[in-house]
Amino acid sequence: MPPENRFLDGAFAPVTEEISVFGLPVTGRLPAELSGRYLRNGPNPLDLDDPNYHWFLGAGMVHGVRLRDGHAEWYRNRWVRSKAVAAQHGETWPAGPVHEGMDFAANTHIIGHGGRTLATVEAGPLPYELSDELDTIGPCDFGGTLPGGFAAHTKLDHATGELHAIAYFWAWDHVQHVVIDAAGQVTRTTDIAVADGPMMHDFALTARYVVLLDLPVTFSLNAVSAGKELPYVWNPAHQARVGLLPRDGSSPVRWIEVEPCWVFHCLNAYDDDGGRVVVDLCQYNQSFDVSTLWAAHGPVTLDRWIIDPVAGKVTQQRLDDRGQEFPRVDDRVVSRPHRYGYSAVIGEVNRAITATGDFTDDAFTNAILRHDLAHDTVEAHEFGRDATAGEAVFAPAAPDSAEDDGYVMAFVHNPDRGAADLVILAAQDFTAEPVARVHLPARIPLGFHGSWIPDR
Ligand SMILES: [Fe+2]
Repeated sequence: MPPENRFLDGAFAPVTEEISVFGLPVTGRLPAELSGRYLRNGPNPLDLDDPNYHWFLGAGMVHGVRLRDGHAEWYRNRWVRSKAVAAQHGETWPAGPVHEGMDFAANTHIIGHGGRTLATVEAGPLPYELSDELDTIGPCDFGGTLPGGFAAHTKLDHATGELHAIAYFWAWDHVQHVVIDAAGQVTRTTDIAVADGPMMHDFALTARYVVLLDLPVTFSLNAVSAGKELPYVWNPAHQARVGLLPRDGSSPVRWIEVEPCWVFHCLNAYDDDGGRVVVDLCQYNQSFDVSTLWAAHGPVTLDRWIIDPVAGKVTQQRLDDRGQEFPRVDDRVVSRPHRYGYSAVIGEVNRAITATGDFTDDAFTNAILRHDLAHDTVEAHEFGRDATAGEAVFAPAAPDSAEDDGYVMAFVHNPDRGAADLVILAAQDFTAEPVARVHLPARIPLGFHGSWIPDR
């Protein structure tokens, strides 16, 4: 019997095996300068019959491809071994610290920092550290320096080597800004009072500020009582606001009210010459119920918020009205002015989360977009209706190459083979045929976020 849950079906359907394959076939030519690992995390539940399964709550599975010297050395996929996942595999849990009894197979993002590979998740649990080959080392509290977990999206400031994070947890009356130094120790935490237990999936960073999004999706005891697996709901009584927390600690957070909306992801942010803060983000313009993953009205648009802390005002501009998500910049420009951005148009996601019920053929489009925000242009690399594309990640050609001088990579479903390809596009020749397609041996379910982690 097919599953009745749309997140257990089609492009979302989980895989059932962990595999390791070496010496992968490639169409095209793999750039020799790409030496490292492309890793991507996503939910892959072990229980395939749960009709109440929430996409955000499947056990994390990391998929990775190792590139070196023009070769694709391996593909691996591994579940993150939380206590429950280890038990289901009949294995001994690697053990380690647990925050407030919340152990979870981190399923949302995967990053490299301070020599560690870290799978991240939010709402309380700690990140999990993995080996270079994706085996679970254990939960990570940075040598006992991290008080709670932190949310899935972190921001590395390449100028300082500091990793910034925001922690939220339903039982707290605050959220917490966390700074982790280049060596992997928490050096500073700042608690910021909030009401109602808001979800803070992402935030933004500039050279001067941490930009907090306190939006009306909040923890709900009623949702807990109603048996919602993810008890965060649209809460019209919660004032939407954006907060500017000075990174130097010189003053408390400055809150500025905005219209109700929801934002999962920021593209990037920076300080402009006039003392304002520019944040580019993907915005759900009307209500979004995270507990059911239904947006009242699609699509999600790419917007610019210009925050004026003196006037206490946020001005909004529409950058692109095409339904898109998973915005990314070249990681080296995080917190500094960016010119280019990449995002994904994922037909299956648009269809799954928008409540309108009417879908033109365009709704099924799969593409990766390249935005040139200096020239207000966008290019689309289209993959076709059944070629589901995931988040795109930028890999520079060299550590000091210019922004956009490099490659854009993503897992894309190859309907001819019924398996995924790692597709590598030349950023500066974006609509041309991919530079390379690494042919992977299995499907990769639609998932969340990843990183290019270069060797060096
Ligand atoms: Fe995310």
